[in-house]
Amino acid sequence: MKIYRTIYPTLHLAQEGNSSISAISSPCVFQRRSFLNFLPREDAGGGIYAEHDHSKDVMKSMMADFQIDPMLAEQLEQGRTLPASWYCDPVVYEAEKTRIFHRSWQYTGDIGQLKEPGDFITATIGDLPILVVRGNDGAIRAFANVCRHRGSEVVLECSGNRKTLQCHYHGWTYNLDGSLRTAPRSNEQASFVKEKFSLKSFALETWGPMIFVNPDTAAPPLEKVTAELPAVFERGQLDLARLRMRRHDVYEIAANWKSIIENFNECYHCPIAHPAFSKLIDVDSYKVETDHEFFSTYYGPLRQSRQNGVTYATLWPTVMFALSSAPMAMQVLCVMPIDANHSRETIDYYFTDDISEDDMRAYVELSDLVQREDIVLVESVQRGLRSRAVTQGNLMLSRERGIQHFQKLVYRFLSATE
Ligand code: FES
Ligand SMILES: [Fe+2]
Repeated sequence: MKIYRTIYPTLHLAQEGNSSISAISSPCVFQRRSFLNFLPREDAGGGIYAEHDHSKDVMKSMMADFQIDPMLAEQLEQGRTLPASWYCDPVVYEAEKTRIFHRSWQYTGDIGQLKEPGDFITATIGDLPILVVRGNDGAIRAFANVCRHRGSEVVLECSGNRKTLQCHYHGWTYNLDGSLRTAPRSNEQASFVKEKFSLKSFALETWGPMIFVNPDTAAPPLEKVTAELPAVFERGQLDLARLRMRRHDVYEIAANWKSIIENFNECYHCPIAHPAFSKLIDVDSYKVETDHEFFSTYYGPLRQSRQNGVTYATLWPTVMFALSSAPMAMQVLCVMPIDANHSRETIDYYFTDDISEDDMRAYVELSDLVQREDIVLVESVQRGLRSRAVTQGNLMLSRERGIQHFQKLVYRFLSATE
């Protein structure tokens, strides 16, 4: 496990395993992956695929290798899990990129980082580099952070402020609205039409302080997936208008992205794996709610004051929330695959301005402890699944319905034909 921490405004720290913590210039430098492999999609109506039809044959031959057992839907219903191979097979991961990540709403950051024109943040959705920037007109837009010249990421930093977006490779320079402003030496090429080379734009919506981006510009609106989730936040006495992001932690984990979400979706493991957490929360009374199409919710009462507790929610496909009313706090956890066997999990911590340093430290320390305990679990699961000694698991449905809910969505999206 590797951990990167940003404590706002400027302190960046890095740690590997249990080694000592050291200051670094920016976690982005370590996290950046330069490899980018666009795969096509049958529907070329919008999003990132419109100009990539030439790759259809490659995609079709890869997908021909990915066959879904026709009995799987029924098995999931009965509490059997997804096959072990789905957690380590690169072919499944390729299918997930196109059928899940490139067409879903993903949390990409905090609107508080984009106060002024030119403020930007970068993120990754699946394997897709994303750039979110506030324009001179005040609008916030999302683009593929991929230069139209030869495909370099335009911006390498995690965040910052720029008057224009100049690619660090040959200097093609884009306006904040994504249009190409200048390209060095373009006057030497009569056929060059800069209007043809705007950055690819993506759908963007906000919910409270949170920014969500969907690479599929034809996707249904965000509220189609969040549905009644804002009401769950209200019941948890969370006032999103009062929260701002104070800390951003990154964990690099040797486990498939789905295992990390599944681990979040059950507290069956809490009495054994989280002794400190289980002293505070009555884990026997943990409630699981899976009646909604695209999210599941969880609630655990405090042992000391049973009218208070912690609320968790998982929003398809990769966003997890941990909500607390005392102190008022929200964690937004987001998992992104690095490859079939490795993932990057981010935790954005939101607090109100009036929280004391001591309360904030105590909250973060318990969360980080639980996180490290969970990483041991999911990395162990990865080694077990990769061994293929067990080809399919069996859920304890009275406690693990949240996993079933999530796995049914994975099945639904991966088996969709269009
Ligand atoms: S790749 Fe961006 S300017 Fe060349
Ligand atoms: Fe856990």
